[in-house]
This record gives sequence, structure tokens and C-alpha cells, in this order.
Amino acid sequence: MFVNNIKIRNFRNHSFFNHQLQRQTYIYGDNGSGKTSILESIYLALNLRTFKKQTLKNIVQFGEQSFHVTVSINHEPQHEPQHHGNSSADNHITLFYQDEMILKNNGEKVDSSMEHLHNNPVIYYSPNTDSLLSSDQSTKRKQLDKIVFHTYMNYANELNTYNRLLNQKRHLLHGIQNNDGHLSHNSQTLLKVLNDQLIPITKTIHHRRKKIVEQINRNLTNIYETLQITEPNLHTQIYLSYSSNVDPNHNTEATTNLLEREKIEGTPLYGTHRDRINIRKDGKIFEKFPSFGQGKAFHITLLKSISQIISHERGITPLILLDDFEAGLDNRRIKSLLSMFDSSHNAQVIATGVNPSANLSHMHNIHIAATPMDSNHEHATPSPTPSPTPTPITTGKPLNTNDANRKDNHEYN
Ligand SMILES: Nc1ncnc2c1ncn2[C@@H]1O[C@H](COP(=O)(O)OP(=O)(O)OP(=O)(O)O)[C@@H](O)[C@H]1O
Ligand SMILES: [Mg+2]
Repeated sequence: MFVNNIKIRNFRNHSFFNHQLQRQTYIYGDNGSGKTSILESIYLALNLRTFKKQTLKNIVQFGEQSFHVTVSINHEPQHEPQHHGNSSADNHITLFYQDEMILKNNGEKVDSSMEHLHNNPVIYYSPNTDSLLSSDQSTKRKQLDKIVFHTYMNYANELNTYNRLLNQKRHLLHGIQNNDGHLSHNSQTLLKVLNDQLIPITKTIHHRRKKIVEQINRNLTNIYETLQITEPNLHTQIYLSYSSNVDPNHNTEATTNLLEREKIEGTPLYGTHRDRINIRKDGKIFEKFPSFGQGKAFHITLLKSISQIISHERGITPLILLDDFEAGLDNRRIKSLLSMFDSSHNAQVIATGVNPSANLSHMHNIHIAATPMDSNHEHATPSPTPSPTPTPITTGKPLNTNDANRKDNHEYN
């Protein structure tokens, strides 16, 4: 899957931005020039949620009412971005936001956001966003579930079923506790029914999570082996661990005993909501003690392994967005990580950074300059006609600037 073009209007500091992208693109510019915002716009159009803990209202440019994002995507592997611009086989995904979000694909309203998400996998890296390296288990479980969902769409329904049943059970158990351990006959029956319904779905979720962790770890082993050739001893053996109290063979006696304990404690103890995911190095929990650069290098390696799983299972290569890619990494790590995304890796990678970089000169380079609004947006009163986006200074592969800076807006309608 390739994003050939990104066009945004009134999106954070960007009044207007329209650029072709290549399979490997590096966007650089000063702090506040809007690099993360460009990644955010692409991410949003594909993922329908921002990676920031903010509502979409915050994205609308100050003084405006709405924003637009259009990404031109091609799912055919042979249609990777070319210099000649958009291909007729592109899908134009348009997201318009004004109080609510309207999503269109080639002008047709998208009915199933679940399908949209499933078919347009996108992976974003920044040290601050939620990930499998986050400290709380609930965030880790959600991140793992996202990966499973990208390999199997119906997983979203399975999770919904599990959570609905679990909440009902939680409610009942809570009621028992408030009632000094007493349970009416009806509640007794309902609890048994709920428990019986929960057991198979718990097993399914457990199985899918376990399988994906095994796949991730297998891929990590292969990646370490490959990286070992270029940089011996740099990438140590770091793996995911997954533990669960779910008994895949379902020992009835054990779950019945547990149910008695659940009644006493007033909360569901058995199930995948108690699963624990950790990252381990030499038996220790890695995410508790890495240096910034070590954590980042592993995180990006992990994303590569996840991207391989999605490509393998779905035949769709996820888009990889690496914000401030080089920041905090030493040169050996930068080179080694880049080798994961070289020409043999067929996913599209869009990296950002503040300066032009010799390490990234082989990529298609786009320079963005700060707009007047960036430097003084507290006082800015946006003009009715958007101020012109500065002509980008481009290095690396040539860019069709005529097309890149065209200001027509008709495709949004
Ligand atoms: N709703 C908004 N309207 C206008 N400007 C906004 C809005 N939200 C954020 N901004 C501004 O947009 C600018 C671009 O932010 P962004 O995070 O994309 O910059 P960046 O190039 O990634 O910077 P850095 O190098 O520091 O990471 C910032 O000046 C920010 O304050
Ligand atoms: Mg940024």
C-alpha cells in the first residue's frame, strides 16, 4: 500500500499543503514547521483517529471551521509511487471534518469504518505515543489487539463480545459483593450463563494474542540475524512475553473454583482482561530500564516485525511513519535501522527530522518551511485567502512542484 499524494487544508499550521510522496520520503524542517502534523494528517485519514490524545476539533486551524485531508492511495504493489505523479488506479480518500467527520473513498461515502481501518494499516512511531512499550498493561493489550485486528478483521467483533459479557459479569459480581455475598436464584442462573458464554470467546482471544506474540518474536529473531551481519552485537535479544491465566484446555473444575473466588472478591479474575505483556531482555523487563536510544531502536525494530506480519497475512504492506527518526539515535543505530527499510523492504516509509541528513539523502526529500502562522499563531488573524505555502526546497529525487503546489480544491467536494 502506497500513499502517492497528500493534500491538506486548514490542518493545524497548514493552510494548504499538497505533495507527492515516494516509497521512501524524508520530510524535514524547523521545529513547528508542521512535520508531525503532516504525518498526523496521513495517519488520521487511514486510522480515523489521531495519535495525539486530542479531539479532532483541536486539529482545525485556528480561526477556521473545518479541515480537509485527501490521500491518494494505491494498493497494488506494482504501483509504487513514481515521479510522474498520481496513477489513475489511485484511491482518493477524503476526510472532511466540521463538528463531525465525513469519510469518502473516490467520492463515495465510506460505510464501514472497520473495513477502512483493516484495509489501510498504518504504523506511527514517536517516543510519546502508546505502544507495546508503554508502562500500563491495558495500553499494551490494546496495542496488541490492534495488530491482531490488522491480520483478522472479525477480531474487533470478538473483542466487543468479550467486553460486553465481561461487563455484565462484572456488574453481577459487584452486586453480589454489595449484597454480602448473597445471590438470587435468577442472578445465580445468569452468572452461570454468562460464564459459559465467556469461556469459548476468552479462549479465542487468548489463542489469537498468543499466536501474534509468537509471530512477532519469530520475526524479531530473523531481523536480529540480518542486522547482526551489518552491526554485530548492536541488537541484543529482546523479546515479547505474554502471560495469561486463561486455560486453553478449559479445565471446568479450575474455572468453577475461580468463580467462587470471583464471587468473594466481587470482580472477574479469569480472562484475557488480566493478560500481561512485557518485553524481556536477559529475563528482565526491558521497558523499565532502556536508555532513550536503546528503547527507540528496539521500538522501531518491533514495528518492522509487526509490519512484516501484516504484509505476510494480508498482502497489504502497512505505511510506516517515523517521526523525528534520527533524534536521539547514534549513527550506528541509524544506519542499522535504515538497513531494515532498504529496497528489499517493500513498505512505504515516511520519516521526519529537523535537518537535511546525509543518512537519508537517498530518500525523496521534502523541505517544509515554517508558515508565518507557526511563528506567531497566538496573534495571527488568518486571512480569508490562505497564505501561500512556501515553495519547498527539495533535494534528492526531483519533485513536480507545479503539481505539488496546485491550489485547486475541487476534489474535496
Ligand atoms: N489547530 C491549530 N491551528 C494552528 N496551528 C496549530 C494548531 N495546532 C497546532 N498548531 C501549531 O502547528 C505547528 C506545527 O506543529 P508540529 O508538531 O507539526 O511541528 P513539527 O514540525 O513537528 O515540530 P517539531 O520539530 O518541534 O516536532 C506548531 O507551531 C503548533 O503550535
Ligand atoms: Mg514534530
